[in-house]
Amino acid sequence: MKPLIENDLIWGAWRARHSDTTREPDGFARLLALCLELEIDWIDHADIYDDGAVEDLHGRAIQRLSAAQRQGLRVITKCGVRFPSPGQPGVRTVHYRSDAAYLHQQADASLQRLGVDQIDLYLLHRPDYLMQAEETARALEDLHTSGKIAAYGVSNFSIHQLERLRASTELPMAAHQIEISVGETSALDDGRLDQAARLDMPLLTWSPLAGGRLFHDDGRLQPLRERLEQVAREMDAGGIDEIALAWLKGLPARIQPILGTMQPDRLRRQVMAYRALNLDRQDWYAILEAERGTPVP
Ligand SMILES: NC(=O)c1ccc[n+]([C@@H]2O[C@H](COP(=O)([O-])OP(=O)(O)OC[C@H]3O[C@@H](n4cnc5c(N)ncnc54)[C@H](OP(=O)(O)O)[C@@H]3O)[C@@H](O)[C@H]2O)c1
Repeated sequence: MKPLIENDLIWGAWRARHSDTTREPDGFARLLALCLELEIDWIDHADIYDDGAVEDLHGRAIQRLSAAQRQGLRVITKCGVRFPSPGQPGVRTVHYRSDAAYLHQQADASLQRLGVDQIDLYLLHRPDYLMQAEETARALEDLHTSGKIAAYGVSNFSIHQLERLRASTELPMAAHQIEISVGETSALDDGRLDQAARLDMPLLTWSPLAGGRLFHDDGRLQPLRERLEQVAREMDAGGIDEIALAWLKGLPARIQPILGTMQPDRLRRQVMAYRALNLDRQDWYAILEAERGTPVP
């Protein structure tokens, strides 16, 4: 079966309104066009990114693209997280929702803002501890039947939470989106990496550069950064970001990093490096050791 997401990388729009490059529709459209040029056709969103304003930005930006460019783009969006903010009146405390009425309401709102007829991949953003799995599953099936979503997946679920929902519907679960990077390696040990490999399910890895923390002074990440710098020098790489991304590529699953940079030159360089660089096994382990701060036993 043809994989849902064929290309190796995804671009994430979360930070778009916090950068001069992408804050306005023209700049956002230029970055979308660059993504397509770099063979990145999947764009990651969520209903909560700036209270829907990032989805809205996407919707306005695609009006600036050609019909062929618009048709080439695929969107991921997520729902389920609620927190006190101007866009979520009445919310007193952070909580999650996965009930049918909410899923339908949020899918309709995202479709409208994104300016598309279909969400290509719809994710439950966080595991709702109060989820009635059968109700959530029926809602996802209904959204699929109506054509509002082409596929569904989850984000930040444990292996058991994922299985619970997966077992509640015949609709194939298309992806799991989780945090993995040289700075966050728990998925290697808690079963999420192995589960995705066993199910042959894409693992869409968010914050693949630890959300930018890799580049700033941080006591905990300093030894890791030094090790990355050493490997970058030895491999004549353009920066530690290239080594951090190559480290992800070595994982034995269908890893698809979601790049979060808003800088066109940086995006281009990271994409090229990701496709070109392959880490030696010993460097891979040395980086893991630097992250964990203890020798690999
Ligand atoms: N499912 C979830 O719960 C969840 C959670 C978080 C994120 N996500 C998704 O994952 C996507 C990626 O996450 P992310 O934005 O945290 O990714 P990231 O690539 O780990 O971090 C991006 C940040 O790092 C900075 N950066 C990148 N390369 C750099 C370099 N060489 N030097 C200095 N700074 C650099 C970027 O700044 P510049 O823009 O200046 O390059 C940006 O601020 C998001 O857009 C979102 O779609 C999902």
